[in-house]
Amino acid sequence: MSNVLEAKVAKVGTDEVTGYSSYQLGSFTFRRDEYFAHVSWPKGSHIMEVDRFLRAMVRDIGWGFFYGWIFFDDIFGTTNHYGTVDIFAGSYDRGCKEAGIDFLETFKAEAVSEAFETISRDWISEGYDPLNAPLETGTPIGPKGKERTDPLLRAFIAAERMLGLEGDTPLRSEGAGQGINRAFADLEMSEPDIECEPGFEGQLHAINLFDHIARSDVTWNPSISAVTRANICCVTSEEHMLPVIHGNDRNEWFIQLTDEIHWNIADKESGAPRGRVVMKAGDVCAMPADIRHQGFSPKRSMLMVMENGTPDLEKRYASGELKPYPVDFG
Ligand SMILES: [Fe+2]
Repeated sequence: MSNVLEAKVAKVGTDEVTGYSSYQLGSFTFRRDEYFAHVSWPKGSHIMEVDRFLRAMVRDIGWGFFYGWIFFDDIFGTTNHYGTVDIFAGSYDRGCKEAGIDFLETFKAEAVSEAFETISRDWISEGYDPLNAPLETGTPIGPKGKERTDPLLRAFIAAERMLGLEGDTPLRSEGAGQGINRAFADLEMSEPDIECEPGFEGQLHAINLFDHIARSDVTWNPSISAVTRANICCVTSEEHMLPVIHGNDRNEWFIQLTDEIHWNIADKESGAPRGRVVMKAGDVCAMPADIRHQGFSPKRSMLMVMENGTPDLEKRYASGELKPYPVDFG
């Protein structure tokens, strides 16, 4: 890891025609036009479709840079060091490295969050929500429109008790656009029977988890996170493509709850292909700690993701102390 820069985001200009501003963080500059995001650094530059760039950027902020590597595409992305964050360009691409145009700078995590939020705010106009599935939102292409005033990110709502028990935070806002998604109209949504021993009424509860996930209006973003010490369980609804390529720094478990997701899996360092996995309802897999992967969900599906948030776990994988996969089938 390189030295941590003390830089903060700065606006460096505004395009008179499109209305969008450009920004600088450290040695990186960010500019957009009607179709594309442009990132440049002292030794090179990169261009990406603006939709892909914004879908990746808002999730990167919302996930707190997640575990390990977030590739916006094969070239540009961030690496989480849990307190500091690298922004890189070409650092994990063999072609860029051979050409000597790869570049990486390390910042405080808050500085990157602030920069990405500032850029997203300026580049996202009303009618477009990069957290929605592409079929369920407008487009970001074109000149700057009216700025959105609602939060870009969905805040976490902490449950006080078991979901659905009296006194719990209401998690569903019926009638506020949180109906059952069209893709899950055929699912059985009956509520579970609850029979508890006398004296325990009001303390035992159960919900139909599908009924909850089916109401999520965002994709590739947790609908519920259940955290028990370092064990993190997220359920999500997925549609279209995972807007980033995730490079793991630890194992990550997937349980496909409905429908199917196609995963492209590549070597984390070079991007060389390592496998393709099609996960169908009921399939379970552990993504290894040394790969990058991207999922494609042709129809909205439900996925459960299990993460191990043990502090410093990434160092134990990076040093080789732990094997990159969780099970030996001997
Ligand atoms: Fe992952």
